[in-house]
Amino acid sequence: ILLVVVGNYNYVRVFVYGVVDEYGRDDFPAEFVFGSGTSAYQVEGAVLEDGRSFSIWDTFAHSEYGSIGVAVDFAARRPTSSISCFYSGANGDIACDGYHKYKCNFNSFLESDCMWMLQEDIQLMADTGLEAYRFSISWSRLVPNGRGSVNVKGLQFYNDFINRLITHGIQPHVTLHHDDLPQILEDEYGGWISRKSVKDYVAYADVCFREFGDRVLHWTTINEANVYALGGYDVGFLPPGRCSSPFGYINCSRGDSTTEPYLAAHHMLLAHASTVKLYREKYKAMQHGFVGLNVFAYWFEPYTNTTEDVKATQRAHDFYLGWFLNPLVNGDYPEIVKKNAGNRIPTFTELESERIKGSFDFIGINHYSTLYVKDNPSSLETDTRDVLGDMAATLIYGGDDGNGSLPTQFLVNPMGLEKLLNYLKEEYENPPIYIHENGQEQPRNGTLTDTPRVEYLHAYIGALLDAVRNGSNMMGYFVWSFFDLFELLDGYNSGFGLYYVDLDDKELTRYPKLSAHWYAKFLKGKNMSD
Ligand code: NOJ
Repeated sequence: ILLVVVGNYNYVRVFVYGVVDEYGRDDFPAEFVFGSGTSAYQVEGAVLEDGRSFSIWDTFAHSEYGSIGVAVDFAARRPTSSISCFYSGANGDIACDGYHKYKCNFNSFLESDCMWMLQEDIQLMADTGLEAYRFSISWSRLVPNGRGSVNVKGLQFYNDFINRLITHGIQPHVTLHHDDLPQILEDEYGGWISRKSVKDYVAYADVCFREFGDRVLHWTTINEANVYALGGYDVGFLPPGRCSSPFGYINCSRGDSTTEPYLAAHHMLLAHASTVKLYREKYKAMQHGFVGLNVFAYWFEPYTNTTEDVKATQRAHDFYLGWFLNPLVNGDYPEIVKKNAGNRIPTFTELESERIKGSFDFIGINHYSTLYVKDNPSSLETDTRDVLGDMAATLIYGGDDGNGSLPTQFLVNPMGLEKLLNYLKEEYENPPIYIHENGQEQPRNGTLTDTPRVEYLHAYIGALLDAVRNGSNMMGYFVWSFFDLFELLDGYNSGFGLYYVDLDDKELTRYPKLSAHWYAKFLKGKNMSD
């Protein structure tokens, strides 16, 4: 394998020859779906409209500790920018105004007039050739009190949204929960760190299955459950922003990083398993759908080939992926996770373990990059360590920038995706997999010529094809994201979108980037060398 550094466009562009380069849509199985995605808080806006209540995202983004707009060094787990821009005030109050712009809004016009309106999001999706669209339902829009009565307006919105997708020939792939627990449940009992969250979550999922399950076949219970537990309860960069870790944000003492991430993760797993049980017992026979869990996955490479770094790399896999996938496939946490966390990680009863084991029809994977892993045994020396301390490994960006120093940006390493998919095949009994997110972040500088993103997508989809040919049980692939949206760490400073959203224009006009044209051409099966 030849590594070639071809330039530096804010991101180190390393092309790995070895993945399939020439391919078309037809090289993938017909039943494999290609799509793109977003999540509710990141696009909908309309946060106070039609009976929606606040979620922990609203609170977090509006708080002084909401970190949005801060450049974060993911690998080192700390902000890279100065404290003065710690709080930039970006939030999802309006976001892309997806709540209104999914369809033509000129109510006085005839519906048929809307075909002239290029600003209808679902029409843009259809024009791009999306076969599926992954989006999340906002729990606080649908069930504003967290439990109990359903908000009729919220119901109408999601029903209309789903119906329009289907009318346009696009499969809805729904995430039930994407970092946005209703604030009322956070206030009442501490959200996911309380076991009470399990019952409320399952009741909310029940509403979604009951109301939308006649049309929605693909359900993801929780998005990036591992990052949600880490970001929300260990490091504090995601809502609800709880942490006490020395690696968290400045003055971070709003939680207990030694136990809360483990508790939150445990309850998410129990909620997931009970939801799958509910679906299988109450809905499956009539609706014939599929339910899975989504996790974030880097590919990890040992920094050196010493035994210590190789073992640390396995620990990184176990703490990132195994934390959730071992329970799903084997019914319990990985041994090393239990050993290093000791009594800070809850145990499953026999019944819970049986319920969790096999509780998935697919695994959703969000994959963006490869990190290198170095052994860090000293982090085990303190009793106040967090999950990342238990991992006893340091994650670092890898590669060489050509001048002998390490880059501090994510590597573009499509072989990492192929290795990851192979690892999942070998370690977890070749589960059905959707790549739910893959894409490249670029500064939101207004350029529509996002050539590096086109190259990124081209290379990663090629790697995916390799994995399909090597027998991975691949079901589909979604580019993150359909348009530039409210980003977790950067707010509106950067974007992953196929479409640019002009925030200076009150219509929030969407413009296709080169990547949107490229993806459309690929999806429509045209010769990619044109
Ligand atoms: C992870 C999350 O699921 C999504 O919300 C986020 O925008 C992207 N990946 C990129 O950071």
